[in-house]
Amino acid sequence: MSKKVFIKTYGCQMNVYDSKRMADVLKPHGYEQSESAEDADLVILNTCHIREKAAEKVYSEIGRLRTEKDAKAAEGKNMFIAVAGCVAQAEGPEMMKRAPAIDMVLGPQTYHRLPDMLKAAEEQRTGGRMSARVLDTEFPVDTKFDHLPTDESGFEGTAAFLTIQEGCDKFCTFCVVPYTRGAEYSRPVSDIVEEAKRLVARGVMEITLLGQNVNAYHGTAADGSTATLGGLIAELDKIDGLTRIRYTTSHPRDMDQELIDAHRDIASCMPYLHLPVQSGSDRILDAMNRKHTREEYFAVIDRLRAARPDLALSSDFIVGFPGETDEDFEDTLDLVRRVKYAQAYSFKYSPRPGTPASVSKEQVPEDVKSERLARLQALINEHQIEFNEGFIGKEMDVLLERFGKRDGQMIGRSPYLQSVYVDVRNDHNALDAAGDKTYTDYMGKLVRVRILEAGPNSLKGELVRALH
Ligand code: 5AD
Ligand code: SF4
Repeated sequence: MSKKVFIKTYGCQMNVYDSKRMADVLKPHGYEQSESAEDADLVILNTCHIREKAAEKVYSEIGRLRTEKDAKAAEGKNMFIAVAGCVAQAEGPEMMKRAPAIDMVLGPQTYHRLPDMLKAAEEQRTGGRMSARVLDTEFPVDTKFDHLPTDESGFEGTAAFLTIQEGCDKFCTFCVVPYTRGAEYSRPVSDIVEEAKRLVARGVMEITLLGQNVNAYHGTAADGSTATLGGLIAELDKIDGLTRIRYTTSHPRDMDQELIDAHRDIASCMPYLHLPVQSGSDRILDAMNRKHTREEYFAVIDRLRAARPDLALSSDFIVGFPGETDEDFEDTLDLVRRVKYAQAYSFKYSPRPGTPASVSKEQVPEDVKSERLARLQALINEHQIEFNEGFIGKEMDVLLERFGKRDGQMIGRSPYLQSVYVDVRNDHNALDAAGDKTYTDYMGKLVRVRILEAGPNSLKGELVRALH
């Protein structure tokens, strides 16, 4: 009998990828994916622990699910609740205590064992025991990548994620990732190439390579040597039909020349780079253990722009890191003015249990953090609008990914990762030539678009012609 699993994903793209793999590993065991928790036999919350609010959201979601679970139990039906991801890893035993509705807690490195865990929980449940709960937050020696199948059926979409590296050895003093995701691990080149080929065979044209420290990638190549990310991108570029390659998230220290050159030499390597700097103050960068200065960051940016002048840059910032003075914050604003990001994310510092910065005596008051965040975001926003407005009247290639709300409107991504709203009804030639062609035929296609309008978060344009 077919069962249903509902997976709710929080946080980063790595979790989005992991959620897909969990669905894939459950499918042969009779689990179909469901769009909501109501009719699900199994609910998995794939959680994020990067900032406080993320974990709190999980607890309130469990509260809501408990009501659902109790209602089902009253009808004699089961609903298993599993918590996966980084909160599971960091707070597993505590979660079990705090939320008795949880049946299973599984850390990010254990997903291939999900069917076994589920079986154990089911057997215990049918045995009528109350202690039907499973906790697995180990870092097993054999990696999940060797055991997680990828589903081969159906259309995957136009753009897909592919995890190539996981974990982090950098130990920035604010960050939980080295504790929740463990040490750096890179998948072998051949595994990645095979997975990419399977995605392309199913209609994917754009792949974003994922890793917490993706440009520290050092995977084994076919000849036994070690490939860097630049080398891996060159291999992936050989795959027919793979038009766009992106990667995230990178660390400034690991931006080697081979990767910088890839942005110049490899057409499929997209002109967009998320290169978090976190702060523009040397004092704070040092306290964060970022392992580079602001000048070193500028030097990397200069080399990147020399290789690819149109490169769109993105970053993450933390405001109100312990000890951050007004002067330090001004240095951050100054860095932003110098780099001029195409877009950027900024967060208030949030003390994470177990990290060195969380026990600092120099915590910054909440109102100061809020005020700094507002100023930083206003500046980033100005640059973002300026960047986007620079495209008005110009043409660009857009990969169409989904339908918009309006008739004839489709939404895709530019090479610079902007969302572009495209009116495809303007393509009279293509429509006429194909006779009965409707705009749905543009789904998953690369098209040439003329940009007409720009806002802070998106562009609007009209179709010039189809390219693919
Ligand atoms: N507080 C606030 N922001 C954080 N980030 C990571 N840890 C924290 C924290 N403790 C931000 C960083 C990182 C992004 C993914 O989340 O900017 O690059
Ligand atoms: Fe966290 Fe720093 Fe590693 Fe990024 S580089 S995952 S911020 S420890």
